[in-house]
Amino acid sequence: MKIFLDTANLDEIREGASLGLLDGVTTNPSLIAKEGADFRKRIVEICESVQGPVSAEVTCTDTEGMCRQGRELAKIHSWVVVKTPTTKEGLKAAKCLVGDGIKVNSTLCFSAPQALLVAKTGATYVSPFVGRLDDISHVGMDLIRDIVTIYRNYSFKTQVLAASLRHPLHVVDAAKAGVDVATMPFKVFELLFKHPLTDKGQDQFLKDWEKLKAR
Ligand code: G3P
Repeated sequence: MKIFLDTANLDEIREGASLGLLDGVTTNPSLIAKEGADFRKRIVEICESVQGPVSAEVTCTDTEGMCRQGRELAKIHSWVVVKTPTTKEGLKAAKCLVGDGIKVNSTLCFSAPQALLVAKTGATYVSPFVGRLDDISHVGMDLIRDIVTIYRNYSFKTQVLAASLRHPLHVVDAAKAGVDVATMPFKVFELLFKHPLTDKGQDQFLKDWEKLKAR
């Protein structure tokens, strides 16, 4: 399972990349706005920092506009993956961008039928949003499991990218479901490292080592 960071914060991305455990980054207009950065410049900086796929989202609402914008985004850097919404217009744009040889991430996917259509476009990724479904009392992980099953049934090439993951258990459940990619905020990524027994055990080992050295 690949690990992506869902952020436009360069410090977070550079730290993640320096660990050698980061495979890519997903952004959205909200995340870039939060950083107050210039959009194009930030996408280039992210691509250079992670050296892996970086999703950059279109903001047009009509198919023609999305295709035009998507082609421009793809020119920014070779690592750019164009994020299109899973709407009728977005799916049409995805199909046309894929036809141009551009990698697409179909975002804001909230149902299995939508995911089925995404696979038919030939998009590289489908992004089902787990946390936002949980927010409205639907079990987001059920959608992940359904999509993985459907894609396996037909050997669809589109990769399942679990998004809107809010805590480590989301990541574990996504891994158990067999997703290709899990994208997560930096704070969730950091939590993956933590276990109190690791800290306690390490502390004890070091104390005992000091005793040994003193002999
Ligand atoms: O980037 C899309 C997704 O991961 C957003 O997550 O927490 O805003 O629902 P969230």
